[in-house]
Formats: sequence, C-alpha cells, structure tokens
Amino acid sequence: MSELSVKHLLGIKYLTEKDIQLIFSTADHFKEVINRSIKKVPSLRDITIANVFFENSTRTKLSFELAEKRLSADVVNFSAGQSSVKKGETLIDTVNNILSMKVDMVVMRHPNPGAGIFLAKHVDAAIVNAGDGAHEHPTQALLDSYSIREKLGDVAGKNVVIVGDILHSRVALSNIFALKLQGANVKVCGPKTLLPKYIESLGVEVEMDLRKALNWCDVANMLRVQNERMDISYFPTTREYTQQFGINKALLNSLDKEIVIMHPGPINRGVEITSDVADSKQSIILNQVENGVAIRMAVLYLLASKIK
Ligand code: CP
Repeated sequence: MSELSVKHLLGIKYLTEKDIQLIFSTADHFKEVINRSIKKVPSLRDITIANVFFENSTRTKLSFELAEKRLSADVVNFSAGQSSVKKGETLIDTVNNILSMKVDMVVMRHPNPGAGIFLAKHVDAAIVNAGDGAHEHPTQALLDSYSIREKLGDVAGKNVVIVGDILHSRVALSNIFALKLQGANVKVCGPKTLLPKYIESLGVEVEMDLRKALNWCDVANMLRVQNERMDISYFPTTREYTQQFGINKALLNSLDKEIVIMHPGPINRGVEITSDVADSKQSIILNQVENGVAIRMAVLYLLASKIK
C-alpha cells in the first residue's frame, strides 16, 4: 500500500512529487465522500486531534475541523488568546499538556517560522503545520495545486504567476515548492521591496509588469498585502499598489486569453483584486475553499495511518 514519505506535514519542502500525487488521489476519494448525502466516514474513529491556533484563522481552522469531523476523529480546539499562554506557559508545555490527555495529532498555526519543526522534535505526536509565520502553509499549497489540476486537468507545464506580497507570504513559498515539484512554470510579480532577494534561486522568474505576467500565465494567484507582518512601509500608498499590482475587470477582459484567478483569502477587496474579478466565472476562489476540506482529510488520513 502507498504511504507518505513523512510522519509530519511540516512543509512542502519535505515532500516528494509522489507524496503530492498520493495526497491528490486520496483527496479525490474524500471529495466524492463529502458530496454524498452522508458525508462522514469512520476512518479516524480512534484518533484524537488537537487544533492549536496561536494566530487568527477562518478558512484553515474551520476546514481542518470539518475534515476531522468528516473522518470521525475526536477533536479539541485550542486558541492561544483564551489559554494559559497568556499567563506565560511555553509552547512545549502547552502542547505536552494537551498530549497528556491522549491526543494523537496536533494541527498548529503559529506566528513563528519553524514552530512546527521545533514541536515535531520535542513532542510525541504527528504535527501538521497550518501556517508558521512567513515560512510555509503546506495544506494551502496542496489545495491550490489540487484546484489547478481540477480546473485545467494537470499542473505540469502550466504557467502560474503569484502576484503581490511574496516576501511575507507562506502561501507563496509553499506554492513555489509545490508547483515546481509538479513541473509547472512559475513567475512572481510584485513591488521589488516585497520580493525576497533569493527568489530566483527557487527556480522562479521575476516579472515586474503585471500585464505581461497575466498575458503569460494560465493561472494568477493574487496574494494579500500582509500589513500585520510589516513594521515599515514597503510601497508609497495602497492606491499606487493597486494601480500597479491589483487586478480589475478591465485588465482581465483586455488580456490575450482567459486565465484562472485564485486567491488564498482573506481578500482585501479593491486592493489586490476587485469584487467583479473575485466573483467572476474565471475565479476559482470558493472551489479552493471547498477543496481544502478534501485535501485536509487526505493529509490527516495518510498521516494517521503512520501512527504506531
Ligand atoms: N488561507 C488561509 O490560510 O486563510 P485563514 O488565515 O483564514 O486560515
């Protein structure tokens, strides 16, 4: 039987192409399950999962919780804001206390890059990274590639441009790793100040002109400017950012071909993307959210099968 090459999902960087294809074929099965009238399967009936969120989330938290419940796992939710972290308890103490209540898997979002990697070395549970600072957001990249595959038939050979705040984006980094692993061509486009200096060493090209980038691509993944991770101004004004790197319907309609529009959410409507583009028939933003549940079911199911 096929299994993942890893015990934890800490980043796309640690996966193989075969792992990604196994996650996708497993997600195909679960997507069929969640579209049945009875959406639940008993696959994780003996597994307990803690969702440990030290940072805000709407999509990822709900999607993991739904995925866990659809698999019949027992679920506990922890939000740092209402916990003893506020009294100074450390990450390891917090998680070890949760694990002593016989928890098998931890899904964690944390503002510090590498928090999941650190935890995996110190606690005895399967760890799933639900976003660690500006480092990785592996399940987002998996659901993004899965959505491209669903819409265009394949990821290999497709031209994908990631637009916006690449510097602070864990979604960008995980997407670059996932897309390159599957043989897609990747460009990034955004203000020079929001492009990391090392970006070309990841095998991606930089295109500063948004119109050129959009005319080249099959898929544009529009990212949010992550103001919460910025302590200085990276561009003069939001208005200028929108003029140079935002997409609106006039720009979309003037392109040489029909492209697919993606966004990981949350959207800043009117900044990186206008409402008439986000809600257009070229947008697969809500398909991404729907696919997130099937992808997370696949990841949890495959990791649980490796727990001794
Ligand atoms: N895409 C994503 O991670 O959204 P949330 O921050 O709402 O989970």
